[in-house]
Amino acid sequence: MTRENQSSTDLKSAPGVKDYSAYFQPPSLKDAKKRGKEEIQVHYDFSIPEEMREFGAGKRYLIQTYGCQMNEHDTETIKGLLDAMGYTSTEDRQEADLILFNTCAVRENAEDKVFGELGHMKVLKQQRPGLMLGVCGCMSQEEAVVNRILSKHPFVDMIFGTHNIHRLPHILKEAAFSKEMVIEVWSKEGDIIENLPKKREGIKAWVNIMYGCDKFCTYCIVPFTRGKERSRRPEDVLAEVRDLARQGFQEVMLLGQNVNAYGKDFEDIDYTLGDLMDDVRKIDIPRVRFTTSHPRDFDDRLIEVLAKKGNLMEHIHLPVQSGSTEVLKRMSRKYSRESYLELVGKIRVAIPDAVLTTDIIVGFPGETEEQFEDTLSLVKEVGFDAAYTFIYSPREGTPAAAMEDNVPEEVKKARLKRLNDAMAELSKASNDAMAGKVVEVLVEGESKYNPDILSARTRTNKLVHFSGPKDLIGKRAMVKITQPKTWLLMAEWLEEPAVSPF
Ligand code: 5AD
Ligand code: SF4
Repeated sequence: MTRENQSSTDLKSAPGVKDYSAYFQPPSLKDAKKRGKEEIQVHYDFSIPEEMREFGAGKRYLIQTYGCQMNEHDTETIKGLLDAMGYTSTEDRQEADLILFNTCAVRENAEDKVFGELGHMKVLKQQRPGLMLGVCGCMSQEEAVVNRILSKHPFVDMIFGTHNIHRLPHILKEAAFSKEMVIEVWSKEGDIIENLPKKREGIKAWVNIMYGCDKFCTYCIVPFTRGKERSRRPEDVLAEVRDLARQGFQEVMLLGQNVNAYGKDFEDIDYTLGDLMDDVRKIDIPRVRFTTSHPRDFDDRLIEVLAKKGNLMEHIHLPVQSGSTEVLKRMSRKYSRESYLELVGKIRVAIPDAVLTTDIIVGFPGETEEQFEDTLSLVKEVGFDAAYTFIYSPREGTPAAAMEDNVPEEVKKARLKRLNDAMAELSKASNDAMAGKVVEVLVEGESKYNPDILSARTRTNKLVHFSGPKDLIGKRAMVKITQPKTWLLMAEWLEEPAVSPF
């Protein structure tokens, strides 16, 4: 059954479930593509309802997060809301009073993991009936997922969508007092809620600059689960970054599904991602990054601003997805192999030491051996330092899911391996070229495997390990690369030279 011909009546008639049609509009490809330029409203008046401010006192929550940095950041908002209701956090499922799964829908295996976890939850729920269980994030925006939870995991207390996070206090209240599963998923939401609390930890902070995506690449579910593109006002983004700088954060990552479309929805001002980066550049925060870029909208203004460097890092994540113009057409990426290479050329001229990383899908419907080899040759021609590589996963309701998935599974796996081998070689070659160089790193903490070793990142986002005093954690330091490996640079700490102001 496709999304278009599914209706929500089967959901309404599920036993024990109230009529929630006002809250749940199933995602529809047709409707999503028709979405117009409804006015985007920005709300600055969020507050936790009076009666919910003590609701979590003495209770503990655990949130399990899947997927991209946008989801990780949503989890920070959810934690901020729960803290504001008096909850505290725990890592132990046995002592949690509330467990939330913040889910990802981008590939099938991410969904399988969540359904597997929900299976385990049944026993926990039987042992402790007071435990509240919720599913949120991108999977909640899919009608088929909601149906499956209703029929197979009816013990779940609440399901809420990516546009409903600010409703969490109300959803919790309803779930606590009602015997039915509470479902609140809006499929279209043009609004931005500005003043939600956020619980940030560590030295790096994520900052949303826009929400949603209007690109509709044929394989991708994000335009349905995250809604239409809407940019935060520059003054709100800049105020947040200034505040993070005042709090002592060392790095901000500006986030959006398609950040190069930033500002395109403003009707009153002409202000793009390049302008935003130029303004963020003037804020006294040591490191600024952004993700994710779409090659189609990556303009000259942005390149010109990134070339000014300072606190703007010389690392660009530029998903290419395929090196074959034919496949790119079927993916509806709206650029060709040639125009991608042209963009890379421009970046290389303006920022010669820029490191490029990418995302690639292998085994897209109809991908021939020759077309896959075009991807391999492009990867080598660009000389990416790293790539997130994926086997194509059909997503119900997307145009690609209706294409014939005719590349055999073994061929897909073999292509992934060939691509990963090529990437490992490229990464090793690029790391080898750094031997003996002195670079600035931001020290993030102890290495996961050896607490005597510090773990740090270069401006180009390469991982560096070295021995040094613990008080370097959270600071920038200069190191000399001694032993490059495939995915890691071993280094030695230098007390001199000092770190540049930026
Ligand atoms: N199958 C495989 N990979 C996908 N991605 C997005 N949708 C799919 C899919 N259906 C990958 C793309 C994207 C990254 C976040 O996930 O490479 O850039
Ligand atoms: Fe998905 Fe990115 Fe394409 Fe948007 S630009 S549809 S998020 S792959």
